[in-house]
Amino acid sequence: MEKNKIIILKNGIDVFGNKIEILVNGEIIEKVSENIDESKFENNENVRIIDVEGKLVMPGVIDVHTHMREPGVTYKEDFATGSRACVKAGVTTFYDMPNTVPTTTTEENLLEKKKLASEKSIVNFGIHFGGSKNDNVEEIKKVLKNGEVNTVKIFMNVSTGEMLIEDDEILAKVFENSKLVLVHAENEMIDKAIELNKNYGSGLYVCHIPSAEEMKKVINAKENSDVNTKEHPVYAEVTPHHLFLNTEIRESTERNKMLLRMKPELREKSDNEFLWEAINRGEVDTIGTDHAPHLISEKLEKITFGMPGVETSLALMINAYNEGKISLEMIQKLMCENPAKIMKIEKRGKLQEGYFADVIVVDTKKEWIVGIDDTIESKCGWTPYENWRLKGKNIMTIVNGEIVYENGKINENVKSGKEVKFYD
Ligand code: DOR
Ligand code: ZN
Ligand code: ZN
Repeated sequence: MEKNKIIILKNGIDVFGNKIEILVNGEIIEKVSENIDESKFENNENVRIIDVEGKLVMPGVIDVHTHMREPGVTYKEDFATGSRACVKAGVTTFYDMPNTVPTTTTEENLLEKKKLASEKSIVNFGIHFGGSKNDNVEEIKKVLKNGEVNTVKIFMNVSTGEMLIEDDEILAKVFENSKLVLVHAENEMIDKAIELNKNYGSGLYVCHIPSAEEMKKVINAKENSDVNTKEHPVYAEVTPHHLFLNTEIRESTERNKMLLRMKPELREKSDNEFLWEAINRGEVDTIGTDHAPHLISEKLEKITFGMPGVETSLALMINAYNEGKISLEMIQKLMCENPAKIMKIEKRGKLQEGYFADVIVVDTKKEWIVGIDDTIESKCGWTPYENWRLKGKNIMTIVNGEIVYENGKINENVKSGKEVKFYD
């Protein structure tokens, strides 16, 4: 039998500022401690001892909100290119959204998408099933019963794709027959989603909250013990673009007027600030990117909603840490621990013995220019943060115990991504 590969990360620092060393055995974290004695492993060809020299060691980022465009729209992105963008930036797990072609609204389409992702993704993946305007509740019941997914995404406002559900009866049935429902809901639709969850649902995850006003609706729901209960909890997601971009930046150039478009649209600077405050009060549960790649030519030709995000999310947040806007501890909560908890992912999201070895090493001091000092891996070939000077960069990504990204390069020889499993 082939021996497990062993990796020992020496001299790391965790988000609390404590020394951390990690022993990875095969695909599992075997030991996490302040000091791992590497002497018994020296001269063993199965063992790699890596001195990370005081760099930050974190669990890999879990981005539960991406649109990887496969199947059907793969000229924008596919599971290979999208997962390369992830691995480079420190994202070791992504969840894909259902507005592909065909939509992920039948069991058959779901299984086909899973097959494509397992063949092509170099990081871990999960799939969100979709609620359909044509009433696919029987399919929802089937895929939940068969344990193929544990989440359903619905669109309650117009966005990219043909998935808007306007029929109240269908909406109620979707909530009634799902576990966690993720919603694209803006303005009054947030109130409606909160009400549906309270009356019929088993959990609500409000995607990409863009503004103070909408955040306040969700905060009120979270604080109301009749609305936010163990039986039907309410979760809040914020994207990097609603934190770092606003209408002022969008309106500053003709190009930005076209490129910086998405649903929900960017809001004011004061909204950015409110969202940061909400984060620091603990009212936001996750950072999800809403990675929604479109070609730049499409974006410039006509208003097209969505922008890429996985390649810059962690670096932007570490840069924000360097500017005193957020703690590293909170970044780890929002980007690793909470996504795993909310999606009930098995053995990921933490640096814990017995967990899968999804580990990243971050140089929090490294200064670099986006799009100049790196190569864009997303097939769409651009980023809204091009030319931004950031301090903080992912430098190593380990996925299920394999070093997939190191020294600025993706290791082309390993493909260790898996579909995530979830618990009940
Ligand atoms: O801007 C967006 N783009 N918002 C969405 O809800 C969908 C996404 C996409 O798929 O392009
Ligand atoms: Zn959306
Ligand atoms: Zn989305």
